[in-house]
This record gives sequence, structure tokens and C-alpha cells, in this order.
Amino acid sequence: MSHDHVPDALTVLRTRSAVRDFAPVPVDDRTVDLLVEAMLAAPSASNRQAWRFVVVRTHDSVRAVRALAPGVLGVPALVMVACVDGGRIGVGSAPAAQRVTDVARLCVAMAVENLLLAAHALGLGGCPVSSFHTGGLRVLLDLPPEVTPQLVVPLGRPARPLRKSVRRDPDEVIRYGL
Ligand SMILES: Cc1cc2nc3c(=O)[nH]c(=O)nc-3n(C[C@H](O)[C@H](O)[C@H](O)COP(=O)(O)O)c2cc1C
Repeated sequence: MSHDHVPDALTVLRTRSAVRDFAPVPVDDRTVDLLVEAMLAAPSASNRQAWRFVVVRTHDSVRAVRALAPGVLGVPALVMVACVDGGRIGVGSAPAAQRVTDVARLCVAMAVENLLLAAHALGLGGCPVSSFHTGGLRVLLDLPPEVTPQLVVPLGRPARPLRKSVRRDPDEVIRYGL
């Protein structure tokens, strides 16, 4: 895959949308490396990087993940399973522990958005998917108990041109000043 013509960041942001149908073409190693690099460049609270990711690439493993993730609609070239790594989070009182877990989930989401934007910039597409069976994935991917999947991200070459989804009126969701 050629990476010669990567659009500027604002164009990437403006033109993105979720991709759920994929062309049956593989994604090469170099491109996967670029995606991973962009994903891991995301910010994280206290730079704790309390995350773990599993890259699923073989046809059979992608099929196995799809079987556990009803939210994955098409057949992607690869799937990224994005997890919170509880082993990187200090334990404290119950409310404090919940708070740090919530924050770690935000960090995973930021990494996933980096991944999706990088994919779009490179002519690929994907979709964050929260509809999956956590326990089943845990067993399939042999995840340790402290590692909990948060999002499953199918990725691949879009099968058709992207369709923009509607957004709420900015006046409804943004307030300037106090
Ligand atoms: C946290 C989160 C979970 C999502 N889970 C799913 C899902 O399970 N299945 C799915 O098809 N799309 C899922 N989506 C994608 C949204 O449906 C999509 O982003 C939304 O409709 C807006 O469309 P756009 O991304 O094309 O702008 C999810 C998005 C987010 C942010």
C-alpha cells in the first residue's frame, strides 16, 4: 500500500466516518505498523498508558472475533481489540478505583480514535464497536484477568465510498463562555 498522498489532519478529521463494509483485501505489515504507532501516540492520564491491544489478523481469528462481536458487521482485514490494563492502575478505595478505571477507559478511547483517524488517513476505515461478549473475548484471546476489552475495532479497505452521518446543530451542543 502506498502512503505517498496522506491528507492533512483537518481534512482527515472532516472526512472521516464509520466504515462497516470492507473490501476483501489484506492490510500489509508496514501499514499495520503505522496504525499501531499512531494509536500508541495517544495521550493518557499521567502518561500511565494503562492499555493493552490485541491485533487480530488471520482469517480464522478474525472470524472467531466476529462471532463474539455482533457489532462487527462486515468482514474486516484485521481487528484491533482495545483493552484497559488494570495492572497499570493503582488500587484504592472503591469509588477512587472506579474513577481511575473510568479514566483508563477514556485513554483507551483516545487511542482508538487515533487508530481510526490514522486508518482513514491511509485510505482504510474502521468502526469502534462496543457490542461484544467480554467473557468470550477474554477466553479466545487468552487475556489475563486484569485486562478488559473496551472496544473492538474492525479495520480494512472500505468497500464503498464513505457516507457522512448527521450531526446535531452546534448551537444545541456548544456554549461559548460562562
Ligand atoms: C463508544 C462507541 C461504541 C460504538 N459501538 C458501535 C457498535 O457496537 N456497532 C456499530 O455498528 N457502531 C458502533 N459505533 C459507531 C457509531 O454508531 C458511529 O460512530 C455513529 O453512528 C456516528 O457515525 P460516524 O462515526 O460515521 O460519524 C460506536 C461508536 C462509539 C463512539
